[in-house]
Amino acid sequence: MLEVARITGGRTLRGEVTAAGSKNACLPILAACLLTRETVTLRNVPDLSDVRYMAEILRHQGADVVVAEPGTWRIKAETVGHRTPYDLVRKMRASICLLGALVGRLRRCEIALPGGCVIGPRPIDLHLKGLARLGCDIRHDAGYLRVDAANARGAYVFLGGRMGSTVLGTANLVMAAVLTPGTTRIDSAACEPEVTDLCRMLAKMGARISGIGSPCLIVEGVESLRGCEHAVIGDRIEAGTYLVAGAITGGDVLVRGVEEQHLGAFLDKLEAAGVRVESSPAGLRARGGPSRPIEVTTQPFPGFPTDLQAQVLAMQLVVDGLTTVTERVYPARFMHVPELQRMGAEIDLEGATAIVKGGRPLSGAPVMASDLRASAALILAGLAARGETWVQRLYHLDRGYVAFERGLASLGADIVRLPNSALPTGLGEE
Ligand code: EPZ
Repeated sequence: MLEVARITGGRTLRGEVTAAGSKNACLPILAACLLTRETVTLRNVPDLSDVRYMAEILRHQGADVVVAEPGTWRIKAETVGHRTPYDLVRKMRASICLLGALVGRLRRCEIALPGGCVIGPRPIDLHLKGLARLGCDIRHDAGYLRVDAANARGAYVFLGGRMGSTVLGTANLVMAAVLTPGTTRIDSAACEPEVTDLCRMLAKMGARISGIGSPCLIVEGVESLRGCEHAVIGDRIEAGTYLVAGAITGGDVLVRGVEEQHLGAFLDKLEAAGVRVESSPAGLRARGGPSRPIEVTTQPFPGFPTDLQAQVLAMQLVVDGLTTVTERVYPARFMHVPELQRMGAEIDLEGATAIVKGGRPLSGAPVMASDLRASAALILAGLAARGETWVQRLYHLDRGYVAFERGLASLGADIVRLPNSALPTGLGEE
C-alpha cells in the first residue's frame, strides 16, 4: 500500500530519541554470518525493510534466520548455496555484499550484477579488482558474476578508486580474505564506522585482522570462523537526521545510542552553522537553529558523510546567505533539489555543487521522495515550511529509518503517515 507523510510545519522540536541499529553496519554483518557454520547472535538489529530483505536473501542461501526477540536475531548457516539470483539482487543494491561472504565461505559464487540507482552509478570495479588480486577467476555471464576462488591466496590490494575508498568494496574484500590462505594487505580501505563494526565482529569470530578503523587493513587468513554474539552500532545517519530535525526548527533534541566520533565532520559543520552541539554520556544534543551559511563537501570517512548531505542542505534553507554543498562521493546525488524548489527553496545546481540561497520562506507542497536520504530531507523541510507538506513514496524512507514519523512526532512535530488515498484530490500518483 502506497503511503504518504503529511507534515504541518511551524512546530519547534524538543526532546529525546534513541537511534536504532545502523542499517549500513547491519547489512554486511548479516552477510558475514554466512562465513561460519555456527550460530551468530546479533543485537540492536534495526527493523528496516532493507534489513528484513537481507534476511530473506540469507534464507534463500540456506541460512536459518530467527528473530529471537525484537532487535535480536540468531543466524545459523550450516549449508550455503553459491548462487544469488537477479530477482533478489535487483531489489537491493547492497546485496552485493554477499559476494565476499560467499567467496570466503564457499570459494566460489554466482551472483547477479546489481542494477544502478537514483543517486548515481554504483560500479563494483573495485570489488572485482580486489578479488582478482587475491587470484579469483571472475567471469561475467548473462548478467551474472561467476567467481572461482579455488586458487585464491592473500595478496596486496590498493583499493582506492577515483572517488576514494569504497565501503562495501572493503567489506567484500575483508570477508573474502579472512578465510583465504596467506596475508592480505588492503591499502585505501574504507574507514567508515560500519566497516569497523564488521571487522570487530569478524575478529570475535576468530578472524585475524589488524589496522581495524584505519585505511590499511592486514588480514591473516584462517581455516574457519566460529559463531559469536555482536551488538550492531547505532545508526549515525539516522542520529544526524534527528539532530537536523531539531536544528531546522530551532529546537533542542538529544539523540541517544550513537558515538560522537562517528559523526565528527557532521557535528563540526552543525557548529560552523551556529547550532549549539553538546556531546555527553547521555548522547548528542543540538540546541537552537543554524544562523550562518556554511560550505560542505562530502568525502569518505572521516570526511562529511554523503548520507547526511541532503539533510544538511535542507537545514541551510532556513539560514540567510549562500551555503554551498559539494558532492565528492555521488556527484549526481541531488534528486531532492527539484522537490525542495517546489517548496520555494532557491538552489542553483552547478555540476556537483548546490548553491543554496537560504532565508527564503518555505511553503508546504506535495513532493515526491526519490531515494532514502532525499525523502528524509523533504520531511525536514516540511517541518520548517508554512502549511502542509505531503511526501509521497514513503517506502524510500522506510528502507533506512525505523518509524521516522513516530520519532519526529514524539519530539513535537505535526506529522502523520497516511494511505495515499488520503491525499487531497489531484495530488496523488496516477
Ligand atoms: C555505502 O554504499 C552505503 N551503503 C551508502 O549508503 C553510502 O552512501 C556509501 O557507502 C558511501 O558512504 C551501504 O553501506 C549499504 P561506495 P557503497 O562503494 O559501499 C565509487 C544509504 O543512503 N565506487 O563507498 O556502495 C562509487 O561510485 C546508502 O544508506 C567505484 O568507483 O558506496 C561512489 O562514487 C546510499 N567503484 C564511491 O565510490 C567501486 O567498485 C563510494 O561508493 C565501488 C564504488
